[in-house]
Amino acid sequence: MNETLSPRNNVATLWYWLQSGVGMRLPFGIVRLLVAKCFFRKLGRDVYFHFGCSFVKAANIEIGSHTYINHGVHLDGRGGRLRIGENVDIAEEVTIWTLDHDPHDDFHSPRGRDVTIGDHVWIASRAIILPGVTIGRGAVVAAGSVVTKDVAPLAIVGGVPAKHIGVRRSALKYTLTYRPGIF
Ligand SMILES: CC(C)(COP(=O)(O)OP(=O)(O)OC[C@H]1O[C@@H](n2cnc3c(N)ncnc32)[C@H](O)[C@@H]1OP(=O)(O)O)[C@@H](O)C(=O)NCCC(=O)NCCS
Repeated sequence: MNETLSPRNNVATLWYWLQSGVGMRLPFGIVRLLVAKCFFRKLGRDVYFHFGCSFVKAANIEIGSHTYINHGVHLDGRGGRLRIGENVDIAEEVTIWTLDHDPHDDFHSPRGRDVTIGDHVWIASRAIILPGVTIGRGAVVAAGSVVTKDVAPLAIVGGVPAKHIGVRRSALKYTLTYRPGIF
């Protein structure tokens, strides 16, 4: 059957639009959290979803308590399990992928791999995390980086592809409670 007419594709796209196109654009953080609670595999306490973030196949995505998902973040659970820890700060327009394609495959077949983000990780704006990556506890991903390989705990990485640029000297004593008002 023509892909455009496939009922499965149409239902999946409608579902995506309802969750991300409508649900994650509603005013009030508490409303977006209630929408997210219906779809995510696991959500900890006091997770914040800024307006305009989006996700696919949230049934494969787990998020720990006090984690902050900023404006325009995209979370992909299509290719495997995406585990995001506690007190993780994900800045504006970050994208985290569990699915891609084998570039050498004759049929452009999809390829899925799990992604794990440890507690107290800070992913700065517009970074891209590729399938299969594990980011260790307390690590920092600098703005605009593309993370292609695992990142050690407390490492600071930056660039395309992301390389080691420093070590985070923090005891990670914080709980992420900042919220940008009720909206
Ligand atoms: C990670 C970050 C905080 C820098 O950390 P830092 O430890 O203070 O790093 P420094 O400025 O001392 O730079 C260390 C090295 O990394 C390089 N570097 C810094 N930021 C980089 C980036 N985004 N990409 C690539 N390289 C980077 C520097 O040029 C420097 O290289 P050098 O040693 O060859 O001179 C900063 O890059 C960053 O991403 N800020 C976040 C901005 C943002 O997204 N704000 C909105 C959300 S709060």
